[in-house]
Amino acid sequence: MTTETPPPVPPAAVRRLRLTNFRSYPDLDLELSPAPVALFGENGAGKTNLLEAISFLAPGRGMRSAGADGVATRSGADIAPEWAVFAEADTREGGFRLGVGARGSARRETRIDGEPAAQNALARLMPMIWLTPAQDRLFAGPRADRLKFFDRLVHAADPAHADAASAYEKSRTRRQRLLDEGGQDPSWLGAIEVEMAGHGVAMAAARLDALIRLQGEIDQRPEGVFPQADLALDGAVEADLAEGLTAGEAEDRFLAALRDGRRRDAAAGRTLTRGPHRTELLARHRAKDQPAGDCSTGEQKALILTLALAQARALGQQWGVAPLLLLDEACAHLDALRRDGLAREILASGSQAWLTGVEKVLFEPFGDAIQYREVHEGGVRALP
Ligand SMILES: Nc1ncnc2c1ncn2[C@@H]1O[C@H](COP(=O)(O)OP(=O)(O)OP(=O)(O)O)[C@@H](O)[C@H]1O
Ligand SMILES: [Mg+2]
Repeated sequence: MTTETPPPVPPAAVRRLRLTNFRSYPDLDLELSPAPVALFGENGAGKTNLLEAISFLAPGRGMRSAGADGVATRSGADIAPEWAVFAEADTREGGFRLGVGARGSARRETRIDGEPAAQNALARLMPMIWLTPAQDRLFAGPRADRLKFFDRLVHAADPAHADAASAYEKSRTRRQRLLDEGGQDPSWLGAIEVEMAGHGVAMAAARLDALIRLQGEIDQRPEGVFPQADLALDGAVEADLAEGLTAGEAEDRFLAALRDGRRRDAAAGRTLTRGPHRTELLARHRAKDQPAGDCSTGEQKALILTLALAQARALGQQWGVAPLLLLDEACAHLDALRRDGLAREILASGSQAWLTGVEKVLFEPFGDAIQYREVHEGGVRALP
């Protein structure tokens, strides 16, 4: 099925990036046009750190899931007392100054035009999608990683999804703790399960919605250098909704399953009851008619790019702005034909895609439609 190409949408774009004590960058100030960005430089130069810094302008812990030790610049035993990422950006709603940072081990603060803001406000202003080299084996790796990847795509389409997901996880943890402790107060347990069912159905509904849009976007493109994929969600609540149950009916059914599963979940010490925490994202390589997990490394990389590019187009149509794309080492493992295809897709999407690679030559298919920046320890140099 092919349809007319939708009208192009303007890109969300970082026009200026300032980093203070962010990993290998004690102090960086970078100016950019809305065009795609090619970051090249040797291993350890700081390319991924730059992408990670931008990823902090989205809700969450960034593309490396930075842990408690944080991202502040370390030198020897010294850790910088505070760090900050600041950007001047073209967003869905025009030019904004976006800032994220933290002091010591304090909570991260988000600012929009200097005013404190909720993290989700960033997702609404500047949608973004990222791919890391660790995701190259996503289809062959653990189920939970695949679900996390998919949930990020859902989150970019529906910022409320993250709230539902974290509320669901909180109530799931509380329920399990009560079950583990044994002395169950049925009314307390019941109240928590009602919460779980409500958030769980909201999560599953957002996932289904995003999946339908994403699959629609994939199907609209003829098979090119990026393979067509067939996606499905294998989850109890998602299946109920897909079968046409209303949200209320799906909640009732999930609630009943939670009640029935109490004894078993208590014995197991974990939530064996099937719910959105156990959903599986299934992906197949359509032309080869085989599960994505059985495909070669390069084929899997191409498949995951299919998903990311399709989601970028879907978000562009949905939000009226082409999302930022952070593609770390996207060209590694791709042959020349696919690198050409990637450049064409990115240029057609109009996105400010940030790409990294060890050599400038990897970006040749972009011609002069990409802005080159050479990254070296703690600094970035613009090339003519
Ligand atoms: N908190 C920190 N403080 C100072 N330096 C850090 C911190 N965290 C990471 N680094 C350093 O940043 C450097 C650059 O890392 P980065 O992953 O960005 O390199 P890269 O250019 O992507 O390399 P590669 O091509 O190997 O992927 C590494 O040498 C790492 O030790
Ligand atoms: Mg890197």
